[in-house]
Amino acid sequence: MTMIDRRSLLAGGAALLAAQATPAATAPATLKAAAAQRGRRFGSAFAWAPPGRDAASFDNLAYAALLQRDCAVLVAENQMKWQALRPSPDRFDFAQFDAMVDWAMRHGFAMRGHTLLWAYSKWFPAWLNNQDFGQRPATAAAAILDRHIDTVAKRYGGKIHSYDVVNEAVDPDTGGLRETSLSRAMGGTANVLDHAFRTARAAAPHAELVYNDYMSWEDGNEKHRAGVLKLLEEFHRRGTPVDALGVQSHIGLFQPTTNAAAVAHRLEPEWRRFLDRVVAMGYRLVITEFDVRDRGLPAAIGPRDRGVADFARAYLDIMLSYPELGDVLAWGLSDRYSWLRGFEPRPDGAIARGCPYDMDLRPKPLRDAMIAALAVGVPTKR
Ligand code: XIL
Repeated sequence: MTMIDRRSLLAGGAALLAAQATPAATAPATLKAAAAQRGRRFGSAFAWAPPGRDAASFDNLAYAALLQRDCAVLVAENQMKWQALRPSPDRFDFAQFDAMVDWAMRHGFAMRGHTLLWAYSKWFPAWLNNQDFGQRPATAAAAILDRHIDTVAKRYGGKIHSYDVVNEAVDPDTGGLRETSLSRAMGGTANVLDHAFRTARAAAPHAELVYNDYMSWEDGNEKHRAGVLKLLEEFHRRGTPVDALGVQSHIGLFQPTTNAAAVAHRLEPEWRRFLDRVVAMGYRLVITEFDVRDRGLPAAIGPRDRGVADFARAYLDIMLSYPELGDVLAWGLSDRYSWLRGFEPRPDGAIARGCPYDMDLRPKPLRDAMIAALAVGVPTKR
């Protein structure tokens, strides 16, 4: 039995449950090992928090043990975003993110960088939304953007092997590109995005450059998927240096159902058509923020966990049938610290169960479904 199993037994006092959750002898014991079997890295988001805080931070011993058990690659949930790093046009604050990168390097993790530009006003720092770019707005805005990407990418160098250079530039309601203060100053969003990728390529020539977005396989994502395909085609045509599509993968069951597998089966063909078109253009794929929204499933833990696991298994089986798929990252390992609890509370008030480990950091059926999918995927092609 591994360290973390012992820890959760002691913490949760649930020997029987944990024993039942242990996968069959032939399955790899960890997410990391399962992914490695097919040449992939599994990983997760983690956080910075003040010492002693109950958070998804490396300073939380129980959570750090999970990260070390299951992950080969990490990503900062919030600490590399402009809101964290860039308090003003002239100042950077690297304290928290530096501490995370240092910890990750000391413990032998690879690191992804999220994100060099969240191209969505809602998530810009207030100063950037209100910035007066003066008489030559295009030059001034480009200088602020360049300085950001250049400074961050050069500071971390080879420590970060993959960047979500641009995040969420496509408006899901229209499929068009979102406008921001930068796009207004620089003559359109396409200019901003090209600029970001070119600057990132120059500053981090070693790194995989990713366009990351949340177009997903559920109903209602049609325009979002079409918009992302159009953007990727335009990148291709203009020679913008984009290596991969980051598929965030905050998948979910939103309508009441007790048959997650049937829902997945219905969604599969159109999702495959989308992925086929992405890889046909020469892009690789990364799963950047996987978790499962369980609003449509019953509150009872048994059927809910089963539904989440079945839905995830079907989704991951599809994703893992693409040799172009590289890293697979979860947006947190435990329900205890998941953003879903606050972002999308269930109408019945029950705690969302979209992560591989529960509120007490005990493995759930989802964890085993993820291990099984990772272990049987096609090998990744570099
Ligand atoms: C979320 C974090 O998890 C939250 O803590 C924060 O308040 C908002 O951002 N897509 C992304 C991530 O690209 O950066 C988001 O992370 C989740 C959705």
